[in-house]
Amino acid sequence: MTGMTAWVGLNLVEVKAGDVIFISGAAGAVGSVAGQLAKLRGCRVIGAAGSTEKVKFLMEECGFDVAFNYKAGPILEQLNLASPDGIDVYFDNVGGEMLEAALSALRVHGRIIACGGISGYNQEKPQPGPSNLFNMTTKRLTMKGLIVGDSLNLQGEFEREVGSYFRAGKLKNKETIVTGLDQAVGAFIGLFEGKNVGKMVVKLD
Ligand SMILES: NC(=O)c1ccc[n+]([C@@H]2O[C@H](COP(=O)([O-])OP(=O)(O)OC[C@H]3O[C@@H](n4cnc5c(N)ncnc54)[C@H](OP(=O)(O)O)[C@@H]3O)[C@@H](O)[C@H]2O)c1
Repeated sequence: MTGMTAWVGLNLVEVKAGDVIFISGAAGAVGSVAGQLAKLRGCRVIGAAGSTEKVKFLMEECGFDVAFNYKAGPILEQLNLASPDGIDVYFDNVGGEMLEAALSALRVHGRIIACGGISGYNQEKPQPGPSNLFNMTTKRLTMKGLIVGDSLNLQGEFEREVGSYFRAGKLKNKETIVTGLDQAVGAFIGLFEGKNVGKMVVKLD
């Protein structure tokens, strides 16, 4: 389901060869597949993740062009360094500061895939929107919301296309596996603490 979310997201804003795409939550289940699929489409791919180990995974295993640790310095500075001429697409898994940085970095007619907002899921009170939302107007941006369940009719197409990449060894699947139902709550909380690389899986013993 998370792989399909990545694929549906890229299709939603017609990600194509030559696009510079920035992906947050890049080492997670959705982000790591979105980045690899974008590379296969001929994009320049930039990812943000929360540790050096994850940055290494993105660069060495997923083929990202640039990856940075968003906890190691200001996000916008790192994004500008990664792509001084801006970005065409932002795949948002995180919201908050990450979305704000992307709004600044997007070029005119840039596109945003609004997939997730994990930075806000546990906030007691909803935070105000990004302080630079007016970029939507000045740069004529498009932001499209995504719910993968709306596209279940495309599952066959997804399986044919992405399954063929997988079988050809062009797409890596990474999982973080914890064993035992009693570990499920900890695994879920771990998602908010960045404990997983790729898909967090609870294996029943
Ligand atoms: N719209 C849809 O249909 C759909 C479907 C599936 C998933 N989603 C959403 O897509 C996003 C990614 O899902 P996923 O399954 O791939 O999850 P995931 O990325 O595998 O796991 C969550 C990751 O988010 C990062 N994170 C947690 N808190 C953060 C914060 N405050 N700021 C920045 N990063 C944070 C952590 O990585 P770091 O170490 O990098 O911080 C963590 O490993 C989620 O927001 C999810 O809700 C949407």
